Amino acid sequence: MRQGASNTFRVIGFLLATCLIQSSQAGQSPGRVLSEAAGIPWPAVIAHRGASYDAPEETAAAFRLARDVGADYLEADLQRTRDGVLVAFHDTTLERTTNVRELYPDRAREPLSSFTLAELKRLDAGSWFNKTYPQRARPAFSGLPILTLDELIDIAEGGVNRPGLYLETKRPELFPGIETDLQRVLERRGWLDPRPHAPSGAVDVASGRGRVVLQTFSRGSLELLQQSMPDVPKILLLSFGDGYMAMRSAVSFEASGETDEAAFYARQEVKSEAEFAAWTDWAKAHGALGTGPSVLSREPDPQSYMDLVKPWMNRMTHDRGLFIHAYTVNSAKDFESLAKRGVDGFFTNRADLLLSLYNRPSPVGIDALLRRNGY
Ligand code: G3P
Ligand code: CA
Repeated sequence: MRQGASNTFRVIGFLLATCLIQSSQAGQSPGRVLSEAAGIPWPAVIAHRGASYDAPEETAAAFRLARDVGADYLEADLQRTRDGVLVAFHDTTLERTTNVRELYPDRAREPLSSFTLAELKRLDAGSWFNKTYPQRARPAFSGLPILTLDELIDIAEGGVNRPGLYLETKRPELFPGIETDLQRVLERRGWLDPRPHAPSGAVDVASGRGRVVLQTFSRGSLELLQQSMPDVPKILLLSFGDGYMAMRSAVSFEASGETDEAAFYARQEVKSEAEFAAWTDWAKAHGALGTGPSVLSREPDPQSYMDLVKPWMNRMTHDRGLFIHAYTVNSAKDFESLAKRGVDGFFTNRADLLLSLYNRPSPVGIDALLRRNGY
């Protein structure tokens, strides 16, 4: 196909998706009522590990970009260093997104929790991105450090836009007491109390009641978060397999011998409607205001999982008085179809794309924003 014609079709497709998303927003969705009652924007744009399509995940570059592009929330995975500091980092080990093999060859497979903050701060959490995504690489990404929660909060507070914080206790069984550690940091930083408004026209989530949303896959951690911060909105992330929602097939991915996790989970089904209902009922009964189900991407995506946002699931969730923030959605086609299914917000690596579909485009492009921030 000629380049000109293909671009025309792409633009038409994008405009169509925008119209469909906006018309699906027009009615009074039950999820909208539930979200707004909690002070949470609807539909919510949650920058998953920051603007992690365009910059290395969970680094200052990704979080500043997500803030400046206009995301409602900065999403981060919290873990604790050996000396007790909360940091934003997704994987249990450091191998995928840092140069730990070079700096600490004998400790490369150790969990993050066995490193002190000073040890972690020596790592380069940016160069992997340049190697993995050469088309989006920037020299200034090399050497970016792992961020503490305090540094993430500095970024949330440091721009014209004032996004909220969407914080996950990641693998909380490895970090006993992380829920109260988190409460102490949020309290010390004034994020558990009303905060000043952002300038007119800027993102102003941080001044509202939904300024912090807490998320976890762990039922135990949800209970502890509810005990320590009962007034902060929470969601239970929904997953599948051992310890999570039961699947119809008894064969787990690990036992299947397959190598493509996304392809395996694309074929899985929840064991029964009763199983899905039990998880949503449990979430509601233990203080969650919403759920965070996984999404099966239509396009190849390593963050594609099992489809837990089927229309009957969304109806059941809304009927129980819970809103739905789905993870992780990165394409216009998926935004469009899932908005029609009633999803109330998206964890996305591409907040800029979702904001454009919601008619809230950033007036400044990604390249200019990254340059403005020194990247
Ligand atoms: O927290 C929502 C989503 O981020 C869950 O997936 O693995 O990216 O933390 P993960
Ligand atoms: Ca997460």
